Amino acid sequence: MSKDLSVTVAGVRFPNPVIAASGTYGFGQDYTDLYPLNKLGGISCKGTTLEPRNGNPAPRIAETPAGMLNSVGLQNPGIDMFITGYLPQLKKDGNVIIANIAGATLDDYKQAVERLDSTDVDMIELNISCPNVKQGGASWGVTCDGAAAVTKTVRAVTKKPLMVKLTPNVTNIVDIAKAVEAEGADCLSLINTLLGMRIDIRTRRPILKNNVGGFSGPAVFPVALRMVWQVANAVDIDVVGMGGITTAADAIEMMMAGAKAIQMGTAIFTDPYSPLKVIDGLEKYMEENDLNSLEEIVGTVQPW
Ligand SMILES: Cc1cc2nc3c(=O)[nH]c(=O)nc-3n(C[C@H](O)[C@H](O)[C@H](O)COP(=O)(O)O)c2cc1C
Repeated sequence: MSKDLSVTVAGVRFPNPVIAASGTYGFGQDYTDLYPLNKLGGISCKGTTLEPRNGNPAPRIAETPAGMLNSVGLQNPGIDMFITGYLPQLKKDGNVIIANIAGATLDDYKQAVERLDSTDVDMIELNISCPNVKQGGASWGVTCDGAAAVTKTVRAVTKKPLMVKLTPNVTNIVDIAKAVEAEGADCLSLINTLLGMRIDIRTRRPILKNNVGGFSGPAVFPVALRMVWQVANAVDIDVVGMGGITTAADAIEMMMAGAKAIQMGTAIFTDPYSPLKVIDGLEKYMEENDLNSLEEIVGTVQPW
């Protein structure tokens, strides 16, 4: 008998808890030849800005043991192209479609989200890891004030379910999570990439043209798990966990730490079928443990 793997996050039903992470799945178009996109619980689309962006100069990918660094720099076709060029097909092919929005100013976020509000996108994920150009380029998400300001601005212009994606590059992620919850976020997702660097010892230059980049993949999993556990224990809204998830066991750990659903990013680059393998593994775990719903395991870790 097949199991019902569905979970509900911020009132939105996902047929299973596995979501493709933003920036690692484009707008789904590269994967439709491999399997139907509706096998996934949801898709978080490539980070989209008000205007199209070319991203950063290459090299913008570097490898590291059990992980990678990227400085793609939010290359994307802009919000209008997302709405007219990609969203209609994604809605036909996939389950829950999540728009991931980034901005350099509060007005950028506001205008992009206003345009999305009248579409049939299922959810909006706010990437608050990008630089605030009016505050010297520090990312919005590194201060409670910055994170709260973006959330408040966007909350005022949309009734869509709002997921705010937290950066791990902070001193206390719980404070940021609470600030975002207080401004009306419906749920949180974490973690975005950790800031990292590699150097080419022959040229003495950083491998990435941008010097630094976002670190992701299996190596970051314990850090992500710790942060999800801390945040899930501190807020009342739902939490979606990500960072290094590669196997069904990782996904189960993340849910036991408090995540209602999970996202997979870097693992998809090594194996585009990995999300499907995780879904199969989750079903097997439900059968072996006689679970009727995966929500039965959410937040069930028993700390010492
Ligand atoms: C190449 C690449 C591009 C990414 N682009 C975005 C993006 O546009 N918006 C965003 O919110 N996160 C972006 N991320 C972060 C991922 O969504 C995810 O938070 C992070 O990689 C940790 O998960 P993982 O270890 O499973 O990849 C990107 C990550 C990678 C590796």
